[in-house]
Amino acid sequence: MNAKSRIGGEDRKREALDYFRSKGLLERVREALKDFSSAKKSLLLYPPQHEICLDSISRFMRSFREYLRHRESLSLRIVGEEFFFEERLLARESVLYYPLLQELRSKGVGGLNLLAGLEAGEFLEFLKLLNLGEDEIASRGGLPRLMEEHGIAHIVVDPPGTWEEKAPRLREAASAREEYFEAVDVIRELSEQVLHDRRLSVTKANRVVGMMLNRVGENRSAVLGLATLKSYDEYTTFHSVNVLILSLALGSMLPLDRNALMILGTGALLHDLGKVTIPKSILTKRGPLTAAEWEEMKRHPVRGADILLAQPGVHPLSVLVAYEHHARYDLTGYPRLNGVKKPSLFSRIVQLVDVYDAMTTARPYQDARTPDHAIRVLVREKGTAFDPLLVKVFVDMMGLYPVGTLVRLHTGELGVVYEQVEGDICSPRVKVIRDPEGREVEPFLVEVARLRERAAPGEEVITSIKPEQVGLDPLDYLG
Ligand SMILES: [Fe+2]
Ligand SMILES: [Fe+2]
Repeated sequence: MNAKSRIGGEDRKREALDYFRSKGLLERVREALKDFSSAKKSLLLYPPQHEICLDSISRFMRSFREYLRHRESLSLRIVGEEFFFEERLLARESVLYYPLLQELRSKGVGGLNLLAGLEAGEFLEFLKLLNLGEDEIASRGGLPRLMEEHGIAHIVVDPPGTWEEKAPRLREAASAREEYFEAVDVIRELSEQVLHDRRLSVTKANRVVGMMLNRVGENRSAVLGLATLKSYDEYTTFHSVNVLILSLALGSMLPLDRNALMILGTGALLHDLGKVTIPKSILTKRGPLTAAEWEEMKRHPVRGADILLAQPGVHPLSVLVAYEHHARYDLTGYPRLNGVKKPSLFSRIVQLVDVYDAMTTARPYQDARTPDHAIRVLVREKGTAFDPLLVKVFVDMMGLYPVGTLVRLHTGELGVVYEQVEGDICSPRVKVIRDPEGREVEPFLVEVARLRERAAPGEEVITSIKPEQVGLDPLDYLG
C-alpha cells in the first residue's frame, strides 16, 4: 500500500468516526419529539407567557433547527399504536409517549409534518389548538380547519389512517410492543395499589404473565429483543417486565411446563414489589448508599414477600422468588436463608436474569454494560453468585452477543444482532445498518459464521459497542 492511499484510508476512517460521534438523524428526531411533548405539557400547566413555557418552546425550536440540518421537514407518522419517523419505527418513543400518541389520534392526527420555516410563535399557536378538548376541536370543524384559520402553514397534519397500510411488516412487531407496554402499565398500577392499600390484583398480574408466555412460545428471539427496552426514569417498572420476559424465556428452555412458568413468571414480575416501601431518595440516589441506606434497601425482598403473602391467590413459590432473589447461589447474599442448601430453582432463575438486566441498564450510579460484557460477568461468577447450569442454558439462549446488541464487524460495518444461530454462541445473525464509512444502508442480514470463515486467523470479527457512542437505538432495527 502506498503512502497516499494509506492517508486516504485514514482520512476516511476519521470521517467515519466523526460521523459516528456526531448525533445521528434519529437521535435528533428523538430529541425533537421529547421537546415537543414537554412543550405541549408545559402549556397545559402554565400560561403561554410563563417562563417555563417560553423555555420549553425555545428548547423545541433549538432541537428542530438541529434536525433541519439533516432534512427539509420532519415527518412523524402514527401506525397503530406506534410512532414512525418516515419508515422507521420509534419503538422507545412509542412506549414513552403513548399517551401523546393516543391523544393525537383521538384529535384526528394520523401524522405530523413540521416544515422548515416554522417559528416559535406559530408553534405555540399550534400547541394551543392541539391542547383544546377533543369535542371542541370536532365542533369547530377539526384541527386542519382551525390551523388554517390561525394561519399555521408550516405544520401539516395527516388525516388518521394515512400511514396505516404503509408498514404492514412492522405491524406484528408493533403488537408485541403493545403487549410490552401493557405489561409496563399493569406493573405501574399494581405498585400504586400496593402503595396505597397493600392490596394487589393477582388476576391482572396473571394476565400479563400469560400474555408474555404466549409471546415467548411464538417467537422467543423477538421477545428477547423487547427485553432491551429500558427506562432511566422508571427503572423498576421496565426492569420488572424485562425480568419477566427473560425468566420465561430461560424457564422455557429448561423446559418447565406452562403451570410452572406461570408461577415463575408471577414471581419474576413481582420480585421487586417490596421496593415500593423504600424511600425514593434511596432508590434513585446518585453515588454510593450509606450503611444505613443500604440496610434499608436490603429489606425489599422480605417486605415484598410479606406483601405477597397477604394476597390470596399468589402461589407460595412466587412469594419465595421475591424473598430469595438476592440470596445468591452460594447463600452469601441477603436475606440469610437458614436450613436450605440453595435458593429454589425459580429464585435462581430470577436472580440470574435480574442481575443481567440490571447490568445492561444505565442507572444514576452506573453506565450500562454492553450485553456481551454482562454475559461474561455471569460466566465469571457461575457457581458462586449464580447457578452454573442456569448460566450455561442462559448463555446458550442469549449467545455471547444477545439479540439487540450493537456490533461493529471486522469489515467496518455496523450492525445489530438480529437472532442467535443454534449451536454457535459466538456467531449470531447480524442486521447490517451502516457501511464502513458510517453511511446508512438498506438493512441486510449477514451470518457472522460466514465472515469468520473468511477472516484472518485470530482476527476479531465482531465487537460490541455502546449505542450511545453512535447515537443509535438497536431496537429500531429489530422490527
Ligand atoms: Fe431486587
Ligand atoms: Fe430486580
